[in-house]
Amino acid sequence: MIARLRQRQEWQFLSVLPKADRSLAIGWWIVLVLRGLLPAALAIATGVLIGAVQHGHPLGGPLSFVGVVFVLLQVLNPIHTAISANLGDRTAAWLYDKLTHACVTPPGMGHLEDPTLTNDLTVAREFDTGMTGPPLYISMGFIADGLVQMVGGLASAIVLFAYGWWAPPVLAGGWLATHWLLRESAVWRDRNTEEVRAAQRDSDYAYRMAVDPPAAKELRLFGLAGWTIDRFIDRRTTLHRLQYEATRMRERSVLSSVLIVTAANLLVLWSVANAVIRGSIDLGAAVIYVQAAVGTSMIAFGGLNWAFDGAAAPVAAVLRLEPAMAPAGALTPGTRSATGVPAREIRFRDVTFAYPEGVPVLEGFDLAIPAGSSLAIVGQNGAGKTTLAKLLCRLYDPQSGAIEVDGTDIRDFDIASWRSRLTAVFQDFVRFELTLRENVAPGGAPDDAVLAALHDAGASDLADLDTVLARGYEGGTDLSGGQWQRVALARAMCAVHLGAGVVLLDEPTAQLDVRGEAEIFDRILATTRDCTTILISHRFSTVRHADRICVLEGGKVVELGSHDELMARRGRYFTMFDLQARRFATGGADEGEEDLVFDVLA
Ligand SMILES: Nc1ncnc2c1ncn2[C@@H]1O[C@H](COP(=O)(O)OP(=O)(O)OP(=O)(O)O)[C@@H](O)[C@H]1O
Ligand SMILES: [Mg+2]
Repeated sequence: MIARLRQRQEWQFLSVLPKADRSLAIGWWIVLVLRGLLPAALAIATGVLIGAVQHGHPLGGPLSFVGVVFVLLQVLNPIHTAISANLGDRTAAWLYDKLTHACVTPPGMGHLEDPTLTNDLTVAREFDTGMTGPPLYISMGFIADGLVQMVGGLASAIVLFAYGWWAPPVLAGGWLATHWLLRESAVWRDRNTEEVRAAQRDSDYAYRMAVDPPAAKELRLFGLAGWTIDRFIDRRTTLHRLQYEATRMRERSVLSSVLIVTAANLLVLWSVANAVIRGSIDLGAAVIYVQAAVGTSMIAFGGLNWAFDGAAAPVAAVLRLEPAMAPAGALTPGTRSATGVPAREIRFRDVTFAYPEGVPVLEGFDLAIPAGSSLAIVGQNGAGKTTLAKLLCRLYDPQSGAIEVDGTDIRDFDIASWRSRLTAVFQDFVRFELTLRENVAPGGAPDDAVLAALHDAGASDLADLDTVLARGYEGGTDLSGGQWQRVALARAMCAVHLGAGVVLLDEPTAQLDVRGEAEIFDRILATTRDCTTILISHRFSTVRHADRICVLEGGKVVELGSHDELMARRGRYFTMFDLQARRFATGGADEGEEDLVFDVLA
């Protein structure tokens, strides 16, 4: 019973409050209980006063009693509202801390891509934005009111013990029965079902598409304004329908509830009336018992309301995510230091890797990259090139085989130590809404290194180091696609200046103009001369600069050699190179670009 109670999300919600702020939570509960006791106290106070009037006793004491209760009734409400709002804010902050921690700290990435965690993540991420319910600082007040009613009902029931031992069980039992009978209704039913959460994710996405800038171009170009609105309304309606279905009332249960509650009330009130008529209790006592009987009804509406449900669901989602994300994003930790590696080589040995529930991307993949050399990887879309780069960064681990650096499995290295040896320009590199300086050196670096890196990447004149690279910030600016790519390249080059020894460049020049590409590439080659460089590119003008080129197909290396060797072999590489160079030559390149094409074709 206790174990089942602990699993309820309402319980989990309440147990989070003291963790968010202990003293506020204690204050919240104390005021809550006091507020809950007040209706019963008022019933007693008025009864005592009426009794005193009836019997001609002094009225000073009873009047003061009524006065104190009355003042407390007026004062405690606003105090509790303020505490609730504050506690709600702190609880939201605590949950966001937990969530960001759970998202960011696992060394791997699996937890962010795990479909079984997506729904919880949506609920948890959006919980305080007011999209599906009021934010916590507001709903805490509703929850407090609900619990006050619950306590008030129980306190009133306890007063009835003074009348007769049987009265509280009959009356409170009657009202409590409504909870059980209506457990499928809003009061009890968990609205946060898988189905509801999936609908919420759909509706969130439709909303984001409408209001966030990234989709704005396509929405207009493809005339999708109406479609977007319809889609959002449709997803919202589905969400509300599912929520409604999850909370609908059951007619028969409602009828039984009414009958039970009416019978219990009639019985107690009829008995009190009889006692007064018989003269076994005086008027003051009758006033107390009748008010207590009426007050007991508060049990029916106490605490367990929609606000509780709405606030408890995301708390439960965060608490579920916390233990689930850590293993989903876990990687076996190693202990060896990676200082100075690779000195000899990086070797992929019989590596097989598949994404969760996917087919293998790499299968029996073997490749050795001598330290200090450059290797280009070419292959069709989806061939697994980016996956290879991610495996080398240890964002995932292969299912079988190993990646060895100077003979050591990279899983044996301390993850942070190994990653500090690497730098990368990812295909979908991040564009920080931060200053140019922080974009180039997010972990901090001397300005000299930042400026040298910007020079390497042909980004010297982009902006002042303190300019924020996003509109909407004071003095902020936005960059073109190619300019952003230069900033990403500068980030990698800065890491090289700071000592990284392995450089991964995944489509680093895809958005650069042809002239810029040639110029920047020369400088990058100079900067990375002593590094082990892995270059992934579809541009053969870039690829040919590498010491060796590997053609990836079907999860394996199908060709490996220098540009000249592979051209001479007249295999896959030759075909792809030839195709691209020919298209370039006939594609109307301007004068300068033609020079390059000739250079490439030579
Ligand atoms: N996070 C992921 N979860 C599941 N599958 C993925 C994920 N990332 C990539 N894949 C799948 O793995 C395969 C290889 O993807 P990868 O990104 O490595 O290809 P690529 O060679 O870099 O392609 P491109 O030239 O288009 O960049 C693809 O079939 C892709 O659908
Ligand atoms: Mg890729």
